[in-house]
This record gives sequence, C-alpha cells and structure tokens, in this order.
Amino acid sequence: MMVITSPGEMTRYSSDALQRGERIGLVPTMGCLHEGHLVLMREGRRRSAVLVASIFVNPTQFGPGEDFARYPRNFERDCAMLQTVPVDVVFAPEPSAMYSPDAQTFVDVGEITSGLCGPHRPGHFRGVTTVVAKLFNIVKPHLAVFGEKDFQQLRAIQRMVRDLNFDVEIIPVPIVREKDGLAMSSRNAYLSSAEREDALALSLAIRAAREKHRAGPCCAEEIVFAATRVLNRMKGIAIEYVEAVDAETLARHPSLDRPILVAIAARVGKTRLIDNAVLQP
Ligand code: PAF
Repeated sequence: MMVITSPGEMTRYSSDALQRGERIGLVPTMGCLHEGHLVLMREGRRRSAVLVASIFVNPTQFGPGEDFARYPRNFERDCAMLQTVPVDVVFAPEPSAMYSPDAQTFVDVGEITSGLCGPHRPGHFRGVTTVVAKLFNIVKPHLAVFGEKDFQQLRAIQRMVRDLNFDVEIIPVPIVREKDGLAMSSRNAYLSSAEREDALALSLAIRAAREKHRAGPCCAEEIVFAATRVLNRMKGIAIEYVEAVDAETLARHPSLDRPILVAIAARVGKTRLIDNAVLQP
C-alpha cells in the first residue's frame, strides 16, 4: 500500500493507471476509521482495479466553534486497517497542499443543502462538495463510494456530479450499525459510557419512525412525532432537528407515495450525532 501526500503525485499515479485501462475507485474519508468505513472500502475494492482511500480532515467543512482541531486523528491505525482491505493507495495531503491561501473558488449545491443540517452548519456542505470536487479532479476515479449515514451529503454530491457533469459513478452504501443499533461514526469516539447509552435513543427513534410508517398510512408529522417522542424520553439528548422529507429532493411535505427520508440530528453532551432511514412507500 502506497501513501501519497502530494496532489500532483496522486494525479500522475492515476493517469498511469488510466493509461493501463484500470478502473479507479475512490473512498473519501476524514480518517479515524471504523468498521463502517471498511464496508465502504470493501465495496470500492469489489468494483475497482485500483482502490484509493483519501484521508483528509477538510478544514473548509468545519464552521467556527466546530470540532476541526479536536477531530480524532489516528493515521497509523487507519493505515493498518486499510491494509486489511486491501487498499492500493492512501491519499493523505496536508491542508496547505489542498488549499492555497488565496483560493476563491467553491462548489455550492443549492436547494438540497438548504434544509436539515444546512442551517445548523453554515458553509459545511460548500466545504464538502468543494473538497470532493477537488478529490475527483486529483484522483480521477471512475467511481466513488459514500455512506448513507451522511444522507444529505450523499444527495448533495450526487446533485453536484449531475449538475457539473463529473464522469464519476456514485456508489451509496447503507448505514453500518453497532450490534445495539447505534450508527457507526468517528464522532462516537467522543462519547463517555453514559453518553453512549443516551446516544442509542437516535437509532431507537429511527426505529419508532419506521414502525409508525409500516403500521399504515401516516403523514410526515406523525412520523416525526413518533421519533421525537422517543428522543424526548432521554434526558441527555438535545434535539437539533427531526424531519421527514422527500428522500430524493430532501424537500419538506413529502408525498406519501414516494420514499421518505426520516432524519435526526441531536447533541449528546457536546457531541453532535446524526441518523436516518429511508422509508419506502
Ligand atoms: O464524509 C466524510 O467523511 C467527509 O465529509 C468527506 C466526504 C470525506 C469530505 O471531506
């Protein structure tokens, strides 16, 4: 497994692979890998001759007061995990190699980023789509794998790829959960053992929403109510939002004959967690 830190060197590596006619897969990450990431990697491995994993804690997607500085980093351990997949190349640039101080071009996806996490994390999705566009240009992948846990991110990237004609196939992978249901996330590492217990309320709330939807025709408000009631029972949880939206457009007031995304963001202590499910009609 090679480690490349220079964007120029990464592009040269990819250009050589393209000349050999090899299919390149990319799994973008911010490191602090867990089993959920490995599931993405295995999906990428299955579909590509050359698999690149990027590890880059992207400063532009963190707002002021967010956890950029304390975001968990563990490069050695990440590399050991990637070797088990196996991944061919780890692309791990420094922020200064990715952003020149006078950079003034950003990729901003509109409507789809305006709801859910958008208002709570101003600038976040602009940072995500900008860095993903840069990674696509640097790595030149045929396909890129993203988890459905960050569902709004996935939809924003899919929209960017469509709107800007990126020739990259986006492969979504379902949420990977711990045995007790908690969605895997690098930020789970922040949780104390008491908070870890409280955090279970998110997946229980998603389950309650799913059961409500499955029990018979119900509107978005009833789905939201079923999830909120579970979260409210847990004292340690501060709800940021619980919403039921159209799973494709992320627009409010979803039509009941289309897939609905139920999505939650909540703080457990100081840690912000998200969870979601797509409810099929
Ligand atoms: O989902 C993440 O880990 C990040 O948002 C991504 C896609 C790697 C961009 O920095």
